[in-house]
Amino acid sequence: MNEAQLIDTARSLVGDHKGLLAMDESVGTCNKRFAALGIPQTVEMRRKYREMIITTPGLNESISGAILFDETIRQQNADGTPFIKLLIDAGIIPGIKVDMGAKPLAGFPGEKVTEGLDGLRDRFAEYSKMGARFAKWRAVIVVGKDLPSRACLEANAHALARYAALCQEAGLVPIVEPEVLMDGSHTLAQCQAVTAEALHTVFEQLYKQHILLEGLLLKPNMILPGLDCSIQEDKAATAEATVKLLLKSVPAAVPGIAFLSGGQSAELATLRLNAMNRVFKSKLPWALSFSFGRALQQPALEIWKGDKANIKAAQRALYHRAKCNRAACMGEYNETLEHSV
Ligand code: G3H
Repeated sequence: MNEAQLIDTARSLVGDHKGLLAMDESVGTCNKRFAALGIPQTVEMRRKYREMIITTPGLNESISGAILFDETIRQQNADGTPFIKLLIDAGIIPGIKVDMGAKPLAGFPGEKVTEGLDGLRDRFAEYSKMGARFAKWRAVIVVGKDLPSRACLEANAHALARYAALCQEAGLVPIVEPEVLMDGSHTLAQCQAVTAEALHTVFEQLYKQHILLEGLLLKPNMILPGLDCSIQEDKAATAEATVKLLLKSVPAAVPGIAFLSGGQSAELATLRLNAMNRVFKSKLPWALSFSFGRALQQPALEIWKGDKANIKAAQRALYHRAKCNRAACMGEYNETLEHSV
């Protein structure tokens, strides 16, 4: 393990107030999003969509790294240039999602455990040779009556730590993502309690597996009420709840925390990230950044709709969201900037 290189990559991913673009939807998830907009669900349409994203002019002004999917990392643009080369040439660090998805956890109805450890060392060797410098593994935690179970938290935390160890061994920075889902009617306080349990369990396992904390990034959910909860706190309350919990749960050695968007609207995710940095940035030991999928891509996808004629407008929308989120990393996002296109 080259510690200096891992630390350098991890810092670069959250440096200069930039964040990550998660474009690592599996084939099934990408197809579902295409279907909702009437876009044909073919390999070639997914390739065209990813080409549109990667070739967005100026994307590197706000985006430090892009998380790819196995299909995407092997694809090229129309003139045959590999996507991974386009990213590197644009100054964007390529990363790769390596988990094989969340599967039902045997013996625990309604809960899931993420799979993908078998053969992972060999897959890391291949991705590293291709040029990937960081990776991502996502665990999902459901909040519900008597959920999550300890068994679910521990199984997922153990898998995350085993993945992180193999990742660092291969010289890639692990993004560790324990996602407490927003689905359900749970309160903000319940989300906070479950996320606290999840993070403490994950960091205990990371410690046991000898993970270099300075060479990883955490990708958590924000502390929010469930989507169906009748009380939806404002951005000041969610910012305070999120930062307070992270201060208690995430060691200062970790260079950055890059939130997932988890189904929030694009603007709300930016507003909430901004609220945290505006009030707390000067008091935090780590950078608070973004690793959004839907909250960066959705507006662009809705404009593109699979039509070549819409590429430029869709790229402008993606560029704009990335710029707004970089501003949110500085606590400088506002209405004027949001409507400046
Ligand atoms: O693992 C989740 C994705 O990388 C982030 O997606 O921002 O749409 O939740 P999201």
